[in-house]
Amino acid sequence: MKKALLALIALLVIGLAGAYAIVHLAFPKAAQPRAGKVDSSPARIERGKYLFDVIAGCADCHSVVDPTRFALPVVPGGYAKGKQFPPGGEGVQVAPNLTSDPATGAGRWSDGHLIRAIREGIGHDGRPLFPGMPYSEYAHMSDEDVESIVAYIRTIPPSVNSLPASRITFPMSIIMRLVPSPVAAVPPVSKADPAAYGAYLTKISGCQFCHTPFVKGQTIKEKLFAGGHEFETAPGIRAVSVNLTPEPKTGIGSMSEAQFLDKFYQYKEYAEKGSPAIRPELNTVMPWLGLARMDPAGHKAI
Ligand code: HEC
Ligand code: HEC
Repeated sequence: MKKALLALIALLVIGLAGAYAIVHLAFPKAAQPRAGKVDSSPARIERGKYLFDVIAGCADCHSVVDPTRFALPVVPGGYAKGKQFPPGGEGVQVAPNLTSDPATGAGRWSDGHLIRAIREGIGHDGRPLFPGMPYSEYAHMSDEDVESIVAYIRTIPPSVNSLPASRITFPMSIIMRLVPSPVAAVPPVSKADPAAYGAYLTKISGCQFCHTPFVKGQTIKEKLFAGGHEFETAPGIRAVSVNLTPEPKTGIGSMSEAQFLDKFYQYKEYAEKGSPAIRPELNTVMPWLGLARMDPAGHKAI
């Protein structure tokens, strides 16, 4: 009896070790970064900056922000230089320095490395990225848009900021190896089709990512836009996103289009002139300062 039990335990251990080895060897699924440089032009750089600051929220996560001011504005000198997030249940996430500093920033990473990291979740060093970097949403980003972002990133002046690597705890450190996935060419979405363009924007601007429950590194696909994604706004303080489905009581079904748009426009002045002081525990992670600057056609499409 005892022998059988020991054999069973031994089998179990071998099985687990085997599964661990397979996940380690076979994942992450990573394609080679593409070679060459993206074409840069003033129009692409402008579009890239708009995506980086306003639509895709890159600047929010990859900059040092002020938790004592409404909607976490970037601090002077803190733009794109990366930061460490407060430790959470899944370890410590560090958003890297994306300025062109060669030693501590993205200066030595190739354009192909950047595109692969943004859409496919593989770091320049080949590591799988923690899916808190919303690459599963950016996987929908068109080639034109991701190349514009890269063209813009190359223009950000170097800022020296040495940061440690992310430290994700077990078992998430293993589970997250399954998330990255190669992306084929993505054609642009026409602005002339507001429903398709709106759907595109809700993915690349993080509405879907932040307004859908997020459990163990995965967006819960059955509950898209139902709210319930939790965030730590200050140490020990949690914010939960709201339901954006048309459900009238808990969602936004009873809100008119004008009321919905006003939510964004009311913060335009803060976005332009700076936002007021707020107690950190009352602050919000909803990126109002960026989203208030979205062009009206984009807001209406959303
Ligand atoms: C919600 C926060 C968040 C947003 C939004 C975000 N990032 Fe990240 N990003 C991170 C974190 C955290 C990491 C590090 C993940 C890790 O180390 O596992 C990361 C990693 C990266 C990397 C990998 C760097 C390397 O080591 O190769 C690049 C490049 C990057 N982000 C660019 C962007 C760009 C461009 C955008 C906007 C399109 C963006 N990020 C939006 C949080 C974010
Ligand atoms: C970084 C995460 C994040 C992103 C990205 C995000 N939201 Fe939010 N949003 C939140 C959270 C959290 C709340 C909950 C209330 C709060 O903290 O202010 C919220 C609140 C809201 C509200 C309710 C406002 C109110 O006062 O009733 C609306 C409407 C909304 N978001 C729409 C959007 C849309 C549309 C997008 C995409 C363009 C978006 N959000 C992107 C996290 C996010």
